[in-house]
Amino acid sequence: MVPVPTRSFEILRSPNVNEKVVISLIYPEASINDLLNLEKPSFLGALEGTPTYEGLLSVTPSPLGDGTFKTAHIAELKRCSESTGHLFRYFGGQVLVAKRLHFEDKLGVVPKQIPPVQEELRHIIQECNILYWCSTILTLTYHFIDSKMQEKGDPPFRIPRLRFVKSGFCYAKSEFSQSSRRGGHLLTRKFKETHLSSSKINRGYILEENITGRFVKYIGSLFPRPTTRGGTQLLSEAELETAEFLCFTQHVQYLQTKGYGYISDYQGSGDLLTDPQLMT
Ligand SMILES: Nc1ncnc2c1ncn2[C@@H]1O[C@H](COP(=O)(O)OP(=O)(O)O)[C@@H](O)[C@H]1O
Ligand SMILES: [Mg+2]
Repeated sequence: MVPVPTRSFEILRSPNVNEKVVISLIYPEASINDLLNLEKPSFLGALEGTPTYEGLLSVTPSPLGDGTFKTAHIAELKRCSESTGHLFRYFGGQVLVAKRLHFEDKLGVVPKQIPPVQEELRHIIQECNILYWCSTILTLTYHFIDSKMQEKGDPPFRIPRLRFVKSGFCYAKSEFSQSSRRGGHLLTRKFKETHLSSSKINRGYILEENITGRFVKYIGSLFPRPTTRGGTQLLSEAELETAEFLCFTQHVQYLQTKGYGYISDYQGSGDLLTDPQLMT
């Protein structure tokens, strides 16, 4: 079903400070076989069996980071009921990052714009899908590394232990469901795509753990090699070491997927990664 847009393109403005939101968490699959056999081919498919939660989200207006397609804002998830505790445990706290999607023209003449809400949600679900696939593929890469280390012993160098941020798909709506209004309980009904065509949905977010420290691009999407600049500065020695390790993971992934694909556009800070691309 193709939902009918409920608004035309809007200029990107400050997010609302307190919003009622519905959240679905992204749980990567343990095995890539499920993905390749197309049993659970997409995040949207996986969502069918996942509970959703309702909560209050307070988003800081000024962005923490600003990219070509998204802005990242510090956000606080407010406790709504006992079940919100599950979300806090998943994200490692109440403070997270809410990312908004936008479009801008290459010359920057027209202000950044947000597409109609249904289109915005579709793009956000696509971003979540890429995180879902890439988290699974990176876990698989570490399975390979760990099995080789069991076989051959530890290598004479440090192996970076990296992972993609814990993340969730989130949309803001003007009303809570009847059940949560009555009892303050979070929603645990199964996710249905039809929920997304509701006219009560105002906007969408990608929720992520907050990556602190210098945010760098280790590998871009054009070339499978370390970037010469990780942002505005050169990569530090430690960052370059991480970037070289990530190039190695691309080789492993290419072989593991029998040439189907590998992760690119590796970026983040410390042991956390986000916003990947999947080259196929
Ligand atoms: N989880 C995060 N924690 C902290 N900052 C982030 C996070 N994700 C993104 N950012 C910041 O927001 C910027 C844009 O986000 P990103 O997901 O890279 O979007 P784009 O698709 O525009 O590259 C990043 O360059 C970074 O500065
Ligand atoms: Mg980016």
